[in-house]
Amino acid sequence: MSPRSSLFILLGLLAGPGCGSGASVPANPTWADVEPILRGECNSCHGWTAGEMANPAYPFRFDFYDVTAAVCGHAALAMDPTVTLAGSPASSIQISADVVPQGGAKWPRMPPQPSPALPDFEVQTLKLWAGQPVKGPPPTTNRPPTVEVSQLPFLAKGQLAFTAIIDDPDGDSVIGVIEANGFAFPMNRPGSFAVNFDASQWPPGPVDVQAVLCDGWVSATYDIGPVQIQN
Ligand code: HEC
Repeated sequence: MSPRSSLFILLGLLAGPGCGSGASVPANPTWADVEPILRGECNSCHGWTAGEMANPAYPFRFDFYDVTAAVCGHAALAMDPTVTLAGSPASSIQISADVVPQGGAKWPRMPPQPSPALPDFEVQTLKLWAGQPVKGPPPTTNRPPTVEVSQLPFLAKGQLAFTAIIDDPDGDSVIGVIEANGFAFPMNRPGSFAVNFDASQWPPGPVDVQAVLCDGWVSATYDIGPVQIQN
């Protein structure tokens, strides 16, 4: 990359959301307006790691509005059902209370100090949305999530193991499953997984392997390929 193009990228970042008063508050914000705010301001703590925290007050996961079988298909199986997602009434009530100072407090509860308070348009967008927390349509530019597989064996004996990396070109969160022979390997977040099936009881012959992924807006199914089981 030339120094000149990196300078332009840097300027683009500096002028991005959160900088100045240019950004406006949508009249009827939907999840497409709110998700990028939560992603930028909250999901370092309330993204997929929320499900892994021991603190019972903490399992609010704001990287998905909901994960329904209608939208996500079998990928929905990968979401921990004990986590409260952003579209649940409990989340919107808490979010609207947490981003403005309560009971004479100087600072809002969230994001916790010493994080800087959110810019006003973000607070207003979150509050408006929390009053009527609709999902709405996906952004028109939304693209489906992706999977990259490496070390897929041609023949598998005893176990079927390989690496899968799931991601989303729009920066949305992703969950999904790898399916083979009626079994599902869950992937509850974007990133890399050491996929492993105990194939020792599977009948010999070809097995289709598929990935079913969901970014919360659409699901995508990818054929990863047949693997010969050779027990
Ligand atoms: C630096 C980490 C961090 C960030 C960033 C953060 N939170 Fe939290 N959040 C926590 C922790 C820790 C808890 C649980 C402990 C607590 O309640 O104080 C929590 C709890 C919550 C809860 C549960 C109910 C409650 O009030 O206890 C909500 C809702 C919440 N946060 C909303 C948000 C929102 C909205 C943002 C972004 C504007 C945000 N948080 C940013 C760490 C964070």
